[in-house]
Amino acid sequence: MTVAFQHALSVTIPNPSHELVQVVRGPRSGFAICVAIHSTALGPAAGGCRIAHYTDPSAAIADALRLSAAMTEKNALAGLEHGGGKAVVALPTAARPTGAERGELLHDIGDAIESLGGRYIAGPDVGSSPVDMSVLGERTSYVCCRPVEDGGSGDSSLHTARGTLAALHAVAEEIFGTPELAGRTFGVIGLGAVGTHVARLLHQAGARLVVTDVAPAARDVAEELGASWSEPGDALAAEVDILVPAALGGLLTPETVPQLRCAAVAGPANNQLDQPATAKLLAERGILWAPDVAVSAGGVIHATGVELRRESEDRLSERIDGIAGTLRQIFDAARTRQITPAEAAAELAWQRTHTGRLSEG
Ligand SMILES: NC(=O)c1ccc[n+]([C@@H]2O[C@H](COP(=O)([O-])OP(=O)(O)OC[C@H]3O[C@@H](n4cnc5c(N)ncnc54)[C@H](O)[C@@H]3O)[C@@H](O)[C@H]2O)c1
Repeated sequence: MTVAFQHALSVTIPNPSHELVQVVRGPRSGFAICVAIHSTALGPAAGGCRIAHYTDPSAAIADALRLSAAMTEKNALAGLEHGGGKAVVALPTAARPTGAERGELLHDIGDAIESLGGRYIAGPDVGSSPVDMSVLGERTSYVCCRPVEDGGSGDSSLHTARGTLAALHAVAEEIFGTPELAGRTFGVIGLGAVGTHVARLLHQAGARLVVTDVAPAARDVAEELGASWSEPGDALAAEVDILVPAALGGLLTPETVPQLRCAAVAGPANNQLDQPATAKLLAERGILWAPDVAVSAGGVIHATGVELRRESEDRLSERIDGIAGTLRQIFDAARTRQITPAEAAAELAWQRTHTGRLSEG
């Protein structure tokens, strides 16, 4: 498949697995904007809008393809009537546009989304915020997670953390035979928006914590929670029951997996495996990996529930807690069929996408 940029950019995409890939040069900002829609089989594609530096636009397109396919799995496993999509803006340098320039870029993204007529609904992602979603919303109504004062559902990080906690109960049950978290040790990597909430929820549940972050200010959170501090370079190899990646993706690689000293890895960070084959390395070491597409769905469940389905907070809590049930299904399938949880999750997502159901039969 060849994708033509408006204004003389052209990129070849080897795998035409997506329903639609649109790449435009923003007429106001001049930046390349890629919207990838992987699937709308279950409903309009939903996924974040990433604004990041890429060395060339084809790397941004490759990211959009990968991230939108992961959103199809995430939304399907979460039981949402949404497919997977992603918008990626390729910034030519590490400098983030600010002020009027940022407004122009956000209006360009809004127009690109609007032109798709509702097949893709955007939310915040790396490099974009709820406030940015309000500016985007000046050009399109297909946007989620504006601040509460602008009529949106706001920051989703607490809900992502609540879903992570539900996931950790299911992981504890699978490896220890009881969902109880009290007295277990968790290694939280990344005390940002989601990681701090996760650490607080674990602390409230009576868990012991080893935490890390590259930002020195995170030490205050560690102190407040009575957590042990680990240097970022050592956190991966900390001796803990469950490691909770809550920073950037790509943490689990053939180089890092042999260093792990935990019984399981389960956290909200997106794209934890550097490549699908790394799931097998974890399984060979007897380390249970909870697929991030299932663990991290609390935010999208809450945002789409509040803004698109008008669901009550009680119903949303049920759905977010339902992440534990989805993981139990994944672990059951993996155990019974001797496949990895990653493979089981992909199969379950495929089944839901193509039959509309999460359960067998
Ligand atoms: N915010 C959400 O609702 C949401 C939803 C789904 C998935 N996620 C994923 O969860 C992860 C965290 O999201 P967030 O919103 O909390 O982001 P964030 O930027 O607020 O937090 C990330 C934290 O990780 C720290 N960090 C970066 N590199 C690190 C390293 N090498 N070692 C230790 N710490 C490091 C940063 O200093 C920061 O404090 C991301 O992978 C994100 O894609 C977030």
